[in-house]
Amino acid sequence: MAENVNIKNTGLRGVTVADTKISFIDGGQGILIYRGYRIEDLAEKASYMEVASLLLNGTLPSQKELARFESEVLASRNLPDPLYDALKTFPKKADPMDVLQATVPALAMWDPDLLEEGRNANVHMATRLLARLPLLMAAWDRIRKGLEPLTPDDSLSHAANFLWLLNGKRPSPSVAKDLDTCLVLHADHTFNASTFACRQVASTRAHLYAGVAAGIGALSGSLHGGANTRVMKMLLELGSEEDIPSWVKARLDSGERIMGMGHAVYKTMDPRAKYLKEMGSRLAEETGQKGLYQRSLDVERAAGQEFAKRGKTEIKPNVDFYSAPVYYMMGIPLDLMTPIFAMSRIAGWTAHIIEEKFGEAQEKPALYRPKAEYVGAYCGLMGCEYAPLDVRKD
Ligand code: COA
Repeated sequence: MAENVNIKNTGLRGVTVADTKISFIDGGQGILIYRGYRIEDLAEKASYMEVASLLLNGTLPSQKELARFESEVLASRNLPDPLYDALKTFPKKADPMDVLQATVPALAMWDPDLLEEGRNANVHMATRLLARLPLLMAAWDRIRKGLEPLTPDDSLSHAANFLWLLNGKRPSPSVAKDLDTCLVLHADHTFNASTFACRQVASTRAHLYAGVAAGIGALSGSLHGGANTRVMKMLLELGSEEDIPSWVKARLDSGERIMGMGHAVYKTMDPRAKYLKEMGSRLAEETGQKGLYQRSLDVERAAGQEFAKRGKTEIKPNVDFYSAPVYYMMGIPLDLMTPIFAMSRIAGWTAHIIEEKFGEAQEKPALYRPKAEYVGAYCGLMGCEYAPLDVRKD
């Protein structure tokens, strides 16, 4: 690699840093592929369990392989008792993403495979984490409300069990299926900020949980997974009386962003957003929340017109724009929307960590170590003269 490639202030846009066999995006055409399969096919035909197995193991599972994977997930539908006790000591106002980022490394301490180095051990750790994130988030939501966590129901699917643990009510099959589809849609997305964080940590040969904790931190930001909660806040704050085109114009004039719009890679409609938009339309009918859904359509239309006037026609709804009202109509609390993203993306994050650790897509994986240009104080290579503390005046 040349010594002086200067790509400062680009956020690494357009820079290829590794090979991957896990997913592919064509941002111009709005195409997303997981291990060769179009997201449209997977969203319509596959379950989240199949997709997680596909991402982690590389191929679509056979019936037997899927049954094995699902039974391993079921076997890990539990949390260590002391972790429930620890959750009860957290401040009730803690953000669920902070709770998630704090407790994932705690789960590492109970994982029997933590110090095993092989691929299989890493897949087992990934499978356990995937099984446990929904339990953690549902337990946290109940604990902060002063309720006791519920016992998982092994007869329910991954998505349905989460809704049961959260609400104490078994969801309808159609809501469980919708949430499962949301998990499929969010499961991987190439080298986004959180996945890159996971891979960067994995490149140091730290363990899988350390990588996932870094990914959770990156996902929480408002420009990444944290956008869905903010989209929902925006839609609720808007209210039904607001003149939406004027609101959009004022927001853009003041330099603020419209949350859930625009993408670093897609320059056309995000293929996942199309599904969530359709799902939102159906849920609005079923739950009697047509006003809320109409508001999101109105923001999309007004923002589209305003962006066009400003020569930014490529800014369109991303995955967060319609996932927010979809989750809201499913009864999900606003601050659990980003954790649901994490509950899905855990499949992609861990697949990428494993790929990075075991060099599955490139012969020689290297420790990520970019350079920065130093623009701080400088007195030559001998350094500035050090003044002892007692002669430094306030
Ligand atoms: N609202 C208003 N303006 C936006 C915008 C949005 N949602 N998204 C991008 N822009 C504008 C920027 O202000 C910038 O304008 P400028 O060139 O006049 O300064 C230009 O488009 C490019 O944006 P930038 O952030 O530099 O690059 P990007 O296209 O890679 O941005 C995001 C990608 C995701 C960071 C950006 O679209 C964004 O902030 N979206 C809102 C947050 C969000 O929904 N995040 C979830 C992503 S899945």
